[in-house]
Amino acid sequence: MPDADDILERKNFYLEVPQTCKAFALKGSNALDWGMKNRLARVFSPDDCRTVMLAVDHGYFQGPTTGLERIDVTICPLIPYADALMITRGALRSTIPPEIAKPVVLRSSGGQSILKELSNERIAVDIEDAVRVNASALAVQVYIGGVHEHESIGNLVEIVNAGNRHGIPTMAVTGVGKELARDAKYLGLATRICAELGANFVKTYYCERGFAAVAAGCPVPLVIAGGKKLPEIDALRMAYRAVSEGAAGVDMGRNIFQCDAPKAMIQAVRAVVHENETPERAYDLYLSLKSAGEGSELCTAKTQLR
Ligand code: 5RP
Repeated sequence: MPDADDILERKNFYLEVPQTCKAFALKGSNALDWGMKNRLARVFSPDDCRTVMLAVDHGYFQGPTTGLERIDVTICPLIPYADALMITRGALRSTIPPEIAKPVVLRSSGGQSILKELSNERIAVDIEDAVRVNASALAVQVYIGGVHEHESIGNLVEIVNAGNRHGIPTMAVTGVGKELARDAKYLGLATRICAELGANFVKTYYCERGFAAVAAGCPVPLVIAGGKKLPEIDALRMAYRAVSEGAAGVDMGRNIFQCDAPKAMIQAVRAVVHENETPERAYDLYLSLKSAGEGSELCTAKTQLR
């Protein structure tokens, strides 16, 4: 029975308590709409505004990359340890169980291969399809200084506009050709342009000198790519320096899935990013998890994710 007459008079409007709604803490994101914030809060932990994204989108331009020959076998066991999964729609639909409770950052540009000019990309996903796969963010490559700089900036702007219409954030990925230096001057230029044009967060590279200025000059969160496979301790050092100097985490691929013990490595990266663990202690964690057998077991029907 509805309490139409309010006979019980038990309602409490807390008249003495001013209504509040706390500010959204993620860098540069407080003015966004609710859906954008909600999706960003799935990618970046609300506890520390950081993320460990697992990047497995490499096949979109380089085919069956080492470690990704069978995403169903090698990547599924890692997903529980990632805050978000960066992946193409093709790999997502064909290999990832839809029951995963992790946000998807959907690779949304493409159109070239390692055999051709890398900056020659186009938008490769309709926004409707991104909605259909429940993407929490869209990822688009931007080649500042590249042969197709203008077109790649156009792709970013179109993706940002489409994402804004649907409340889906955009991650710009600063692609660098072989000819471009990955120094602070270049990365500062590239990341700032992406943010100014509306990217909600930016994936870029770490640089040994001046990264703190790159991060400070970018008004939205930066995450760093791992790049080519490094010795594990070096990859952990890079992640540690990046977050200490202002990055909001990593979007790491090869330095996780090309390890001997990927499951141990992603946990070590998490320790650095979310617990501010030193690289040395995180490396010890890596070694102990690895020797305890954490890391190399593959995904079988029984271990399929939920
Ligand atoms: C290209 C990309 C990659 O496809 C990938 O995400 C890079 O990850 P990593 O360098 O850590 O292997 O974004 O620029």
